[in-house]
Amino acid sequence: MTVPHNIYVHVPFCMSKCRYCAFFSRACANPDWDLYTAGIVAELKYWERQLGKISIPTIFFGGGTPSLMPVQSFRKIIHTITTLFNTEPDCEITLESNPRTLDATKLDEFCAAGVNRLSIGIQSLSDERLQFLGRQHSVADALHLVDLARRKNIRLSADFIYGMPNDTVDDIVKLCDDINALGLGHCSMYELTIEENTPFGKMNLNMPTNDEMAQMYIAIGDRLNIPRYEVSNYATHGNECRHNMNIWDGAPYIGIGRGGAGRVLINNQWYEQMGNGELFNPLDHGARAIERVITGMRMVRGVILDNDTKKIINMDFVNSRPDLVYRTNDGRIAATKHGMLILDDVIANMTRG
Ligand SMILES: C[S@@+](CC[C@H](N)C(=O)[O-])C[C@H]1O[C@@H](n2cnc3c(N)ncnc32)[C@H](O)[C@@H]1O
Ligand code: SF4
Repeated sequence: MTVPHNIYVHVPFCMSKCRYCAFFSRACANPDWDLYTAGIVAELKYWERQLGKISIPTIFFGGGTPSLMPVQSFRKIIHTITTLFNTEPDCEITLESNPRTLDATKLDEFCAAGVNRLSIGIQSLSDERLQFLGRQHSVADALHLVDLARRKNIRLSADFIYGMPNDTVDDIVKLCDDINALGLGHCSMYELTIEENTPFGKMNLNMPTNDEMAQMYIAIGDRLNIPRYEVSNYATHGNECRHNMNIWDGAPYIGIGRGGAGRVLINNQWYEQMGNGELFNPLDHGARAIERVITGMRMVRGVILDNDTKKIINMDFVNSRPDLVYRTNDGRIAATKHGMLILDDVIANMTRG
C-alpha cells in the first residue's frame, strides 16, 4: 500500500553560523553543490524503489540556508522529484532563505523552477539585535528581500526571534506593530532558546524569566494581527504552511539530505529515518501516536482523534478539564487558550503510558 509522502530536503550549509543556532549546518562559502545534488538525487531514487510512484503534496527545502543553493541544483532536485513521483498539481514548494543570499534574478529563477512559498529569516527588526544574534544582514537587507518576494506570485513567510536579553513586553509589542505594518500572510515567532554548544550557550546571558517570556508570548497573541495557528506560527486564513500542518497532523514525510529527519510509512509500518542513510528504525504505532499527540496539540486546531491517538489520550482527563482541553466539532482534541500556556503539562496529563 502506498500513501502520499511530503518531502523535506535539508541543505546543511550557511554563510556563517549564527550565535544561537544548533541546527545541523556548517559555515561553508563554497560547498561542492554538484556532489550535494548528486547525493540528494540518489536518495530520491532510493525512496522511489522503496515507496513506488507515490504522490507528493508538499516539498520543503530547509536548512541551513537553502537559498544559497545554485538554482541549477534546485532545478535538478525538483525535476527528479517530479519524474520519480506524482507531484500533486497544487504541490506547495517552500524555500527557506536568508537576506543577502537572493537578488531579483535568483529569486525569479527559483520561482520559475517551482518555488511557490518563500520563508525569510528576518529574525529581528533592530540592527543592534541582528548584530547580537550574529546575523550577516541588516534590517534593510531583510526588507529588501520582502519587497522582491512581494513582486512575485508566491506565498511569503518570515521568521522572528523574541525574548533576547533585556527584551521587555513593550519591545515585543513594538515588534508586533512593525510586523503588522509589513502585512505578511505568515510569520513564525520563536522564543530565543539557549542551546548547548553554541556561542550563546557559553555566554551566561541574562535571559528574561519564564514569567516574562510568558507575558511576551501573550502579548504576541494579543497584538499581532495575524492569528496564531500553532504555538510559534501565525497565518491569515489559507496562508498556513501546508507542509508543517501535514507533518504536525501525522502525515508521512521523507527526510532527504544529511540532517533531514523523516517518518515514512511502508506497508503500514512506520519508520523514523534521517537523510543520507544515517538512521532507519521501525517505530511502533504507539510511539508514532505519541508524536502525533505532541505535534497535533501544538496546533490551535488540535490533534486528530483516531484509533491510534485514542489509545494514548486519557479521555477522563479531557472530559474533566474543559478549562485546558476540549473536543472540537471536527473530531480533534485541542488546547484552550489557557491550556496552550501550559501545554507541556497538559500533554503530560492527557497521555497514558
Ligand atoms: C533552521 S533555521 C533556518 C532559517 C534560515 N537559515 C535563517 O537563519 O534565516 C529556522 C529558524 O529557526 C529559528 N531558530 C534557530 N535557532 C533558534 C534558537 N536557538 N532560538 C530560537 N529560534 C531559533 C530562526 O528563527 C530560524 O529562522
Ligand atoms: S539560523 Fe539559519 S543562517 Fe543562522 S546558522 Fe542557523 S540555519 Fe544558518
